[in-house]
Amino acid sequence: MFKRLTVVLLAALALTACDRVDPNSPLGKRKAIFKEMLKTSEDMGGMLRGRLPFDGVKFAAGALKLDGLARAPWQHFPQARDEGDSSARPEVWERQARFHDLARQLEGVTGELVEVTRTQPLDAAQLKAPMDKVEAACKACHSEFRNH
Ligand code: HEC
Repeated sequence: MFKRLTVVLLAALALTACDRVDPNSPLGKRKAIFKEMLKTSEDMGGMLRGRLPFDGVKFAAGALKLDGLARAPWQHFPQARDEGDSSARPEVWERQARFHDLARQLEGVTGELVEVTRTQPLDAAQLKAPMDKVEAACKACHSEFRNH
C-alpha cells in the first residue's frame, strides 16, 4: 500500500515538474511548434556551418518544413493573454500589429529560402545569406517579444 502511494505521488510530482503545460492548450501547441522550428533550423544551420554534413536534399526538405512551421504558431496566440508558463512578453498583446509584422517577416524569409532551394544540386555557399536572414528574423522577434 505504502509503495503504491509513493509511486502515485512520484508520478504526480513528475507531472507537475516537467509537464505543467497542457499539450492541447494554445500555449502547449505554440511551444511545440516553436521547438520544432528550432530543431529544424538548427539542423539546417548546422549543415551550413559544418557541424553536420551538408545534404542538399535534406536542406531543401528542411526549408519546406520550416516555411510551413513559420506559418503555424500565430493562430495559437489567443486574443487575450493566456495563463501559464509562457515566455511571451505582455507586448505580444499590447503591440499586436508589430508582432504580426515580425511574424510576416519570418514567413517572407522562409519563403525566400524555399525559393532558393528548389533546384538541386544546392550550393551550400549560396544558402548562407538566406539562412542568416531566417535566423535574424527569429532573433528580432525574440528580443522584442520574448523573455529570455
Ligand atoms: C513574431 C515573433 C516570433 C518569431 C518570428 C519567432 N518567435 Fe520564437 N517565440 C516567440 C514568442 C512570443 C515565444 C514565447 C511563446 C510562449 O511561451 O508563449 C517564442 C518561443 C520560442 C521558443 C521556446 C518554446 C518553448 O518551449 O517555450 C523557441 C525554441 C522558439 N521560439 C524558436 C523560434 C525559432 C527557431 C524561430 C525562427 C525560425 C522563431 N522562434 C521565430 C516569438 C517569435
